[in-house]
Amino acid sequence: MAEFMDGLKRDIYCAEVTEKMIGKQITVTGWAAKRRDFGGLIFIDLRDRSGLLQIVFDASKSGADFAKAENIRSEYVLAVKGVLRSRSPDTVNPKLKTGSVELLGTTLKILAESDTPPFALDDSASVNEAVKLKYRYLDLRTPYLQERVAVRHNVTKAARDYLSDEGFLEIETPFLGKSTPEGARDYLVPSRVHEGSFYALPQSPQLYKQILMISGFDRYYQIARCFRDEDLRANRQPEFTQIDLEMSFVEDESDVMSVAEGLIAKIYKAVKGESVPKKIRRFTYAEAMNRFGSDKPDTRFGLELCDISDIATSCGFQVFEGAVKNGGSVRLINAKGFGKSDNPILSRRDIDALTDFVRTYRAKGLAWIAMKDDGVQSVITKFMTPQTVDAILKRANAETGDVLFFCADKNDVVFASLGALRLHLGELGGLIDRDKTDMLWVTDFPLFEYSQEEKRFVAVHHPFTAPKNEDIPLLESGELAPVRSKAYDFVINGQEAGGGSIRIHSRGLQKKVFNALGFSDKQVEERFGFFINAFNYGAPPHGGLAFGLDRLVMLLTDTDNIKDVIAFPKVQNASDLMTQAPAPVDEKQLRELRIKTGERGT
Ligand code: AMO
Ligand code: AMP
Repeated sequence: MAEFMDGLKRDIYCAEVTEKMIGKQITVTGWAAKRRDFGGLIFIDLRDRSGLLQIVFDASKSGADFAKAENIRSEYVLAVKGVLRSRSPDTVNPKLKTGSVELLGTTLKILAESDTPPFALDDSASVNEAVKLKYRYLDLRTPYLQERVAVRHNVTKAARDYLSDEGFLEIETPFLGKSTPEGARDYLVPSRVHEGSFYALPQSPQLYKQILMISGFDRYYQIARCFRDEDLRANRQPEFTQIDLEMSFVEDESDVMSVAEGLIAKIYKAVKGESVPKKIRRFTYAEAMNRFGSDKPDTRFGLELCDISDIATSCGFQVFEGAVKNGGSVRLINAKGFGKSDNPILSRRDIDALTDFVRTYRAKGLAWIAMKDDGVQSVITKFMTPQTVDAILKRANAETGDVLFFCADKNDVVFASLGALRLHLGELGGLIDRDKTDMLWVTDFPLFEYSQEEKRFVAVHHPFTAPKNEDIPLLESGELAPVRSKAYDFVINGQEAGGGSIRIHSRGLQKKVFNALGFSDKQVEERFGFFINAFNYGAPPHGGLAFGLDRLVMLLTDTDNIKDVIAFPKVQNASDLMTQAPAPVDEKQLRELRIKTGERGT
């Protein structure tokens, strides 16, 4: 409306102005990022989502509106008409895209005033995060966040373009649904109409997308919001987004994996201009664990694990022998060159501190051998014969300057401890090549894992994941631990970026899996009744996967803070500092829902 803008219609975004337009009259709009007043000359850096453009108001040239310009303060919203001119050589700012030009303002409209912002936007990096999140709308004005939000859009658009071209239909599934068996805690929504009943917000559209396959949609995708009430970490939010897909008439894992590879290639090309190999390397779960101690290995550096269980069986050191006897293993990492006598990466004190580091992963200790110039230094070698020590050193390819770290325990503890230690050492030694994009698949995950808490086997992914054909006999014989699944994870730079599986579509096999998990028919009916029934009416072979959109954008914009890629994120305790959600509600609302809130702890 004319009265809002006084007819000052924007011609161009600030940072899109180029030298070619010198001498032309243009109108720009935005926020006053910076203001310098030299009496007869006022300089304003005008900011919009494209970047900055310097505006000059000159008492002798800007006319009547010069007086208005004197009132401009930080974050005022302006529309400025003027003539573009080049800057004098000594005032060119090479750091700014528009640094060689400036707009001589002739007409100014102050569209909105602003209170003094609670923090300086151009120094946002050093501001307390809680303050920035409270005033998220201000922090979102910074180029740092503007860029990430825009990349997120580009990723979503590339995904939509690719999947649509590949014949996938975008189909929405409900937020108000029934609890899905993803494994995290559900967010529940009370029903007003059905007293005592609750909807669950979806942890993922898993059940719906499989039902869409039964319904004949053949290829489905969705940019799907997921809700999980779990402990937050740097790469986890209670609500996050998946690029979720499912496809029918698949032969095996490769059918889904090649669609996913195409999708990732399209995204990396569109957003970064980076070419991703057509086929991504594959590691089996067993290989990933044995070599890197992780099911999401970062293979940008070495420091691989080395199994010495066979030597340890009768090595003389009770801790090692005991671990193997109890069905565990003894493995080591050779921190190559970390103990060089000139300029060591690890001092004796650092080495001791690493024992505390691995304790968080339940390791009982961290034995080590340092390869000094004058021989080995260690407290464990005295228990062993020289031949045993030699065999270990040979297996580890140990040379002077190396430090070997050992963990002896149950396999899960050994892998967790040495897997984390490997990453830590990689960081300490500066071994991780940050310019490299390291993509890989991990396949053949175990189908089941034993839960100490529940004292039974539980599904590693979800109970609809298909077992490997050749492992079905094991399932039938009740030998569950070694059964492998047709599940796969996509890993980028040591982060789980996505995951999925081929699903069970045969009723008989599904029943066997439920039996193995210890579900009675009644429990199956209660928990998954509607889902299982759908399989009685013709389910095609199908499989799918979901990428974590937030994680992809994090990787693409090189941040390890998931809040940087979400416009309105939540903090560690799942609250939103801007809106103050969650918050108490009116008594009336609670009465309608027949909900009574108790004092804490009652
Ligand atoms: P999964 O649980 O592995 O699979 O999730 C898929 C991907 O989503 C991302 N992700 C998260 N991102 C941010 N915050 C979180 N709290 C969070 N949790 C998961 C990860 C992960 O790889 N339905 C299955 C997919 C399938 O089988 O098709 C599923 O949800 O990047
Ligand atoms: P100890 O004999 O208990 O003093 O242990 C000797 C060394 O072995 C110490 O460096 C311990 O940290 C280490 N150690 C103890 N338990 C383990 C274990 N389970 N795995 C690896 N090292 C261990």
